[in-house]
Amino acid sequence: MLKYIVVFVSMALAAWTVPEWLESWLLQREGSASAPPPGTLLTSKELSSYSGGEGSKGLYLAILGQVFDVEKGRKHYGPGGSYHFFTGKDASRAFITGEFTEAGLSSDVSDFSESQIVALYDWLSFYQRDYTPKGKLIGHFYTENGEPTEALRNLEAFLSEGLRKKAQAQSEMQLYPSCNTEWSEASGGRVWCSSMSGGIQRDWIGVPRMLFSPGSGHTRCVCIHLTDPVHSENQNLREYKDCPHQAESCKIIKD
Ligand code: HEM
Repeated sequence: MLKYIVVFVSMALAAWTVPEWLESWLLQREGSASAPPPGTLLTSKELSSYSGGEGSKGLYLAILGQVFDVEKGRKHYGPGGSYHFFTGKDASRAFITGEFTEAGLSSDVSDFSESQIVALYDWLSFYQRDYTPKGKLIGHFYTENGEPTEALRNLEAFLSEGLRKKAQAQSEMQLYPSCNTEWSEASGGRVWCSSMSGGIQRDWIGVPRMLFSPGSGHTRCVCIHLTDPVHSENQNLREYKDCPHQAESCKIIKD
């Protein structure tokens, strides 16, 4: 049970970290989008006869058009299991929306954001790692010749851009980890740095600064390593009012 909770939590965290295996998977895929995928081609009618019930041919599901045998996870996917609704079809959409209704169990992800696409490919990687591939589903993502459809090619471009942005955001979080914050009616607001603030484990603590993001007008409290020369060139950093230059903790004082 704990193993699965860890799997689920790591999937949720995928919105913040770019796993190496996902990047290497993407690299392997680059340039191969037009090559016919290996394995059997199934129609949606054929796939629907693999939902694990009586007289069915097996227990399969599809995600992003790739079909997997999930017999090994029958306790989740078999009739009566919590995730039985995923079987015999491609319900890619519901992996992200969590909408497990008839309308929600769809393969249409055309309105997904880049980060949703990244999270969906994370699920695909999970199935590639834990279950046996059985071929491709003809329809939304693969043609009858097993070629990726335009919809799939567009998604892959989106994925690539989503991963790039995530990597960028990750390296910004390393350079500018967030501060700890607290607020109470009695003493007002306070921000401070610690060697784990912002969830970034480091061997320095840093001092709080306001980091403005030009364009959005958004500000966040970040911890900076005072001796790092990169910060002296950053025009978007400001000290907190009435807070000593080297203080690790600052009270928030309204202007
Ligand atoms: C978008 C929402 C969700 C989706 C798409 C989803 C999907 C899945 C899938 C596909 C599995 C089976 C994994 C496998 O093959 O091993 C699974 C297992 C599991 N999920 Fe979810 N899940 C969602 C939300 C949740 C939530 C909110 C919770 C907890 C409150 C949860 C708790 C679990 C647990 C505990 C298991 C393992 C069950 C067991 O070992 O018996 N899931 N989930």
